[in-house]
Amino acid sequence: MKYYGLNELRKMFLDYFESKGHLVMNSFSLVPHNDNSLLLINSGMAPLKPYFTGQEVPPRTRVTTCQKCIRTGDLENVGKTARHGTFFEMLGNFSFGDYFKKESIPWAWEFLTEVIGLDPDRLYPSVYVDDDEAYAIWRDVMHIPEDRIFKFGKEDNFWEHGSGPCGPCTEIYYDRGEKYAKGDPADNVVGGDGDRYMEVWNVVFSQFDNDGHGHYSDLAQKNIDTGMGLERLAVAVQDVDSIFDVDTLQALRNKVCEIAGVEYHSSEKADVAIRVITDHARSATFMISDGIMPSNEGRGYVLRRLIRRAVRRRDAQRGTVSPAQS
Ligand code: SER
Repeated sequence: MKYYGLNELRKMFLDYFESKGHLVMNSFSLVPHNDNSLLLINSGMAPLKPYFTGQEVPPRTRVTTCQKCIRTGDLENVGKTARHGTFFEMLGNFSFGDYFKKESIPWAWEFLTEVIGLDPDRLYPSVYVDDDEAYAIWRDVMHIPEDRIFKFGKEDNFWEHGSGPCGPCTEIYYDRGEKYAKGDPADNVVGGDGDRYMEVWNVVFSQFDNDGHGHYSDLAQKNIDTGMGLERLAVAVQDVDSIFDVDTLQALRNKVCEIAGVEYHSSEKADVAIRVITDHARSATFMISDGIMPSNEGRGYVLRRLIRRAVRRRDAQRGTVSPAQS
């Protein structure tokens, strides 16, 4: 497979969807606008919610973005797995009442296999267990054998985050190969927690509105909300161990090593600390550049906590404090 840098991959995605009639929009701020349900923007769709609900008219019914995101739900996994980070860039193509399943699935496949050149035999789609329509598209239109299409329940294949637009989704997993199957073999399966099969793309058929209390109503229009982690895509394309080995993040990681005077891969404990510091420094930088300041509450507290966790890792590495205190 041809090598592409992270910055090239970002451009390839936006160019591809521009060629499919999408308006390329800049990333929105990490600070949500008119949305009390979120402290920080956590996905490409979050700043676009009013276009999904029909409350506001989008500049075009097809939009593509590369959105900076913060997610702290998996904080404890950062530095320990190949794929978790609190800051990441999410590539997305969005339809506001325009195209739906039969366009979004073939485009996802075409981008991954023909534009990027991922081996189709290493890709495994999953669908929501009741979504016969998406299943039929994968089987009958995309000609993926049935034993390669996985059906999962709500926990894996229904995307929602608090209140707002949501719906069943189809995901695409990439098999990174046996060499990345660390830990329990039971985790290294499609949909498992291991690092061998990595979810790269999520296409949400956004057609419901959750009122925040688990009550769903139909949205006025059917939408598409896709999300692909840019760093994860780069891990697959560059065939590297983790997001911290991707070209752009590796440069940051190396700088952290240089400042700390520590060689990467000198010990697992030091490596975890280096990865945590690299990730948290990246998050803190983007949060501060969007105007967030450390404080005792709200998003300012998230920032403060990340900075504090990074400092504790540094101190733990020097042996002056236990990482458990972080
Ligand atoms: N909203 C979905 C996600 O964040 C797809 O963009 O994964």
